[in-house]
Amino acid sequence: MNIRERIAPLTKQPAPLSMIRSTLLIYALFFTPLIAHSQGSSLNVPFSLGRGWTAFENNCSTCHGVQGSGSEKGPPLIHPYYVPSHHSDESILRAIMSGTRQHHWGFGDMPPVSGISEPEARQIILYIRWLQMEKGLISN
Ligand code: HEC
Repeated sequence: MNIRERIAPLTKQPAPLSMIRSTLLIYALFFTPLIAHSQGSSLNVPFSLGRGWTAFENNCSTCHGVQGSGSEKGPPLIHPYYVPSHHSDESILRAIMSGTRQHHWGFGDMPPVSGISEPEARQIILYIRWLQMEKGLISN
């Protein structure tokens, strides 16, 4: 038996291992979102709100938390303070475009959020209103 024949079985060994690895990867890819979903209270966002959702999660969630649930840097927007009778769409628009001074909470000021167009801000507002509705803060 020459060297090549002796190492052949060894070099073949990684094949099943890599299969296991790719199987695990496939499982992880498919099931992690499901697990993450079932653990949190996150909602299935309708396709039509996709733009507002993405813009919110990219620009606001660092402070206001995923799906507006709040974080250590900013208050939840899914909160009675922010329902339409207390904060109109226009006041949310103003906060996005110009920021706001600390007044309700102790997180400091909210800086203006740059790079958001008004149509995009309106999509974000729709998404926030939808979240508030889903969480039972406002009726539709
Ligand atoms: C850097 C952190 C930060 C980011 C990013 C941020 N906010 Fe805020 N936001 C705050 C803080 C802090 C407050 C609370 C101010 C207070 O009332 O004390 C606030 C308040 C608000 C309010 C209430 C405004 C008011 O008039 O009382 C709204 C609405 C709001 N944010 C929406 C948003 C939206 C939408 C985005 C993304 C486009 C966003 N924020 C991004 C920190 C942030």
